[in-house]
Amino acid sequence: KKAPPVTLVIFGATGDLTRRLLIPAIINLTRSGLVGDDLAILGVGIDEGDDEFLRGRLDEFLTHLSPDGEEPTRKDDAWFSLRSRISYMSGDFTRDDIYQAIETRLGSSANAAFYLAVPPVLFGPIVEKLAVHGLMQETETCFRRVAIEKPFGTDLSSAKALNARILSNVEETQVYRLDHFLGKETVQNLMTARFANMIIEGLWSNTYIDHVQITAAEVVDVGSRGRFYDATGALRDMVPNHLFQLLAMIAMEPPNSFDAEAIRNEKGKVLKALRVYSAEEAAANSVRGAYGSGGLGGKSLSAYRDTKDVAPDSRTETYVALKLYADTWRWAGVPFYLRTGKALTARDTEIVITFNKVPFAQFRETDVTRRLPPNRLVIQVQPDEGMSMEISIKRPGQSVETVPVTLDFRYSDRFDIGNTTGYESLIYDLFIGDQALFQRADSIEAGWAAVQPFLDAWAEDGSVPEPYAPGSMGPASADDLIRKDGREWHELGVVLHQRK
Ligand code: BG6
Repeated sequence: KKAPPVTLVIFGATGDLTRRLLIPAIINLTRSGLVGDDLAILGVGIDEGDDEFLRGRLDEFLTHLSPDGEEPTRKDDAWFSLRSRISYMSGDFTRDDIYQAIETRLGSSANAAFYLAVPPVLFGPIVEKLAVHGLMQETETCFRRVAIEKPFGTDLSSAKALNARILSNVEETQVYRLDHFLGKETVQNLMTARFANMIIEGLWSNTYIDHVQITAAEVVDVGSRGRFYDATGALRDMVPNHLFQLLAMIAMEPPNSFDAEAIRNEKGKVLKALRVYSAEEAAANSVRGAYGSGGLGGKSLSAYRDTKDVAPDSRTETYVALKLYADTWRWAGVPFYLRTGKALTARDTEIVITFNKVPFAQFRETDVTRRLPPNRLVIQVQPDEGMSMEISIKRPGQSVETVPVTLDFRYSDRFDIGNTTGYESLIYDLFIGDQALFQRADSIEAGWAAVQPFLDAWAEDGSVPEPYAPGSMGPASADDLIRKDGREWHELGVVLHQRK
């Protein structure tokens, strides 16, 4: 279905997000016919310039993107057709004249989506100005929407304040809070995997599941993002947003339909059921780490604390592991272990569901069978997207000996996902008005409510993150966190096709 006519107004159009993700995603949507020549883009930025200035900047970047230096993207019809519909306006987002100019340009009857590709401190002020200037006024025939991307606040109270400020100016149905993890194909597949398959959903509860692990491991270090990162840390950067979105998809009840509100209600219910720990519980159920200096990918990496724009006595974590519970009928007693970190051994975003052991093992004679492993379902979100189910079979031969094997599905064996940015579905849904993949204010606040005790506990106890070696699996205490429960982390970076 083709998207309706719309003007996408991008605040921060000269920035990195616009050229690296938004424009390439729109080119892909143009190519697949999901947006047509009734899409216009109005870029707004602080740099002086005219329409050609922005187009030229994008040309430059898209050329740079091309793998063989032959400028194929630039010569592509989809880009050329879009290019002529891109215009630019320069101005200061905190002043009124720019909003008046946008109003004059749009008129009052055009569909418009405002995309705030700007630092988070500007979310509130821009939404307020848009509303004051009547730019968020919808009519029977025209919509006005605003898209903002994490971070939504830096703790529970700032998230509440931001939501309140936004919602005093616009309706919840106009706000598209975007979490780029939900643009990933494998993340969207989580609902299909569960709700289209009895073999999976039928076993999806504490009756059959021992525990869940959710990992987002990265090899990249903090690099040039020191200023942002030191004020943020791994917990705020990844947990209440990306990892909780994965958790919500795994733990939600089946919605009655795939309507946005039905899905968002179920996701919200699970996030609200996350146990809110006391300070002592938070300290006991979390581990923080910060990478030290060492070798990473053949290069030498200086310690996190020695990174540019990071305080030498920084207490910010670059790794965090947590044990959480969703207090619901379905998940009572099932721990969710979450971990994420930078400068680790592998890039690996995955969800591992470990099932209960069989209640009785008849195969007593061999060593292997005494250690009969539990079934595991590994959902690889990235890289090498796919799923694998670990089961035990009989080793061929006359003795009764079990051996673990995996049933593997890899996307790349079956489909050509192509060169997508992960923003295509999100932008398309913004245009067609489907909020299913966007976050509602209450879910954001529920997420922060569950992480707030960790922030408070660490601020109070004055602890410093435990050092870990770059290229490792993280701090040793993270292993203890799960081992004390008689469990192990899933090995990082064991991509599907490498599994035996
Ligand atoms: C961002 C974080 O939201 O997500 C980054 O700010 C992180 O620190 C990134 O690297 C991870 O996203 P992806 O899609 O590369 O897994």
